[in-house]
Amino acid sequence: MSMTESISETIPAILPLEDGFMDVMGKARKGLKLTLEDLAERTGLSLSQVEAAFQGTINSETTLLQLAFALNLHGPSLVAMAKNEWQPKPLPKIPGLQQFTTWYGDMTVNAYLLWDTATQAAASFDTGANCQAMLDFIERNGLSLKKIFITHTHMDHLADLERLSREHPTALCYGSAVDNPLGLKPLIEGDGLIVGSLSIRVLGTSGHTPGGLSYFVQGLSQPIVVVGDALFASSMGGAPYAYQEARLNNLNKLLSLPEQTLICPGHGPMTTVGEEQAHNPFFPETK
Ligand SMILES: [Fe+2]
Repeated sequence: MSMTESISETIPAILPLEDGFMDVMGKARKGLKLTLEDLAERTGLSLSQVEAAFQGTINSETTLLQLAFALNLHGPSLVAMAKNEWQPKPLPKIPGLQQFTTWYGDMTVNAYLLWDTATQAAASFDTGANCQAMLDFIERNGLSLKKIFITHTHMDHLADLERLSREHPTALCYGSAVDNPLGLKPLIEGDGLIVGSLSIRVLGTSGHTPGGLSYFVQGLSQPIVVVGDALFASSMGGAPYAYQEARLNNLNKLLSLPEQTLICPGHGPMTTVGEEQAHNPFFPETK
């Protein structure tokens, strides 16, 4: 099967969290470049207890709290993930925002359309694995695609850019000036763009990739930030080579936005800044 072919499994209406507690611990450990032995020494746990926690065979609250402390994670949020106790609250439908989730191999990826509900001027954010549903939606709703924004250059997010751009040849394609293998119109942090009545501010959220961008959009019923893989509900994109850069960009540029801001991530469910301030284990500073 090619990576852009869809597979038959149905995408759930409420997307599950992209990461579990073991993913979170693994990302933090790799980012901080700590070995399991380092963690045993820092926590006072035995090496076999640490190994078991990373394999998910031990998930006692005490052990996880000790590991969370050593990994600079927020312990209660990590424990809540291990107990499957947290999922972002269901969000109201926002006129002018549509999420598209497609299969890319055995994982799902999200792309988004945002539009001015008065003029139907629209912008897409990434394409996902397959942009057919987005193309159909644009046509069915009489939208006019003006701009295509790419969050980062991982293939699952822009796999169908060629087709989306071919079907909408007047739409301008934008991506990071730092990491721009496709020669898109280059953007840097602080750039501002307009689509109909929507204003879009570019935020530099490098770390997961060197040129990762997020897009803060105002003009709908609540502010929206499209973040690619910089941040997920209760997690963040892997950044083994630039972990603190990724974490601090998220903390300073995304989690500092108004708390009602809707976060549209590249994988997993949508969430809000307020929810992530309260529940994302990677950011003990906001608790
Ligand atoms: Fe990515």
